[in-house]
Amino acid sequence: MSSHVPSASPSPTPRLSAAPLPVDAPVLELRDLTRTHGTGIAEVHALRGINLSVHTGELVAVMGPSGSGKSTLLTLAGGLDTASSGQVVIEGQDISTLGRKGVAALRRRSVGYVFQDYNLIPALTAAENIALPRELDGVSVRKARKEARAALEEMDLLQIADRFPDEMSGGQQQRVAIARALVGDRRLVLADEPTGALDSETGEAVLALLRNRCDQGAAGVMVTHEPRYAAWADRVVFLRDGSIVDQTLSTAADSLLAVEGAE
Ligand SMILES: Nc1ncnc2c1ncn2[C@@H]1O[C@H](COP(=O)(O)OP(=O)(O)OP(=O)(O)O)[C@@H](O)[C@H]1O
Ligand SMILES: [Mg+2]
Repeated sequence: MSSHVPSASPSPTPRLSAAPLPVDAPVLELRDLTRTHGTGIAEVHALRGINLSVHTGELVAVMGPSGSGKSTLLTLAGGLDTASSGQVVIEGQDISTLGRKGVAALRRRSVGYVFQDYNLIPALTAAENIALPRELDGVSVRKARKEARAALEEMDLLQIADRFPDEMSGGQQQRVAIARALVGDRRLVLADEPTGALDSETGEAVLALLRNRCDQGAAGVMVTHEPRYAAWADRVVFLRDGSIVDQTLSTAADSLLAVEGAE
């Protein structure tokens, strides 16, 4: 005898990947994107008409002075803020059409985000912080914890798996935040100054991991102030006053590095 079963799927999150992406479609596409804060004389144009595509396998570095719009670009690309105009398309979907729940589901499933200030949850251990987004997305607790420990191992941090954020150094917190962004094969990895709190050796190791993740098929966008780290990217995008003023291949960033080294 059948009890009442609702005909709609009980899944709380809408399915997002019904239509396969064309092979050469970008994982992330920003189309004429603007973001304006405030009105009248307080109006700030944080972004003014950004066009940017990032394909699978690509790592793009974003550089520019403080206040040029780097974090704004990243938060919009990750669906954490809403554009004033223009479109953010992730894996072929214009995120403005997905609704709040849809964007949240897309973020959990497809977007790894490293915040400029880490954003770890203080009441959770390192391993729990990494496992949480996966558990929220329906992965079993056991599998999520196993993945979390593997991600910590990749970051050489297994020894702090059971520590809370206030028991970690800044660099350790940053690496836990990176592990959280990389766990679970997300297609788009967005990192806002992921090396800010790291010594240069650890910074290079983190960049190698990001690079490796992109080589395996993710698309990455990383904000950095350091030409040394930008040199790991395929392309460098320079922002000034909310606009892209230049784009170069990272070989040109190598020459920036040479200039810096000569100083
Ligand atoms: N909530 C807000 N209200 C008003 N202005 C804002 C807000 N958020 C950002 N801005 C402004 O938008 C501009 C871009 O800020 P954003 O944080 O993107 O810069 P950034 O390039 O990441 O700088 P930094 O290198 O210092 O992190 C700045 O002028 C900033 O003051
Ligand atoms: Mg910033």
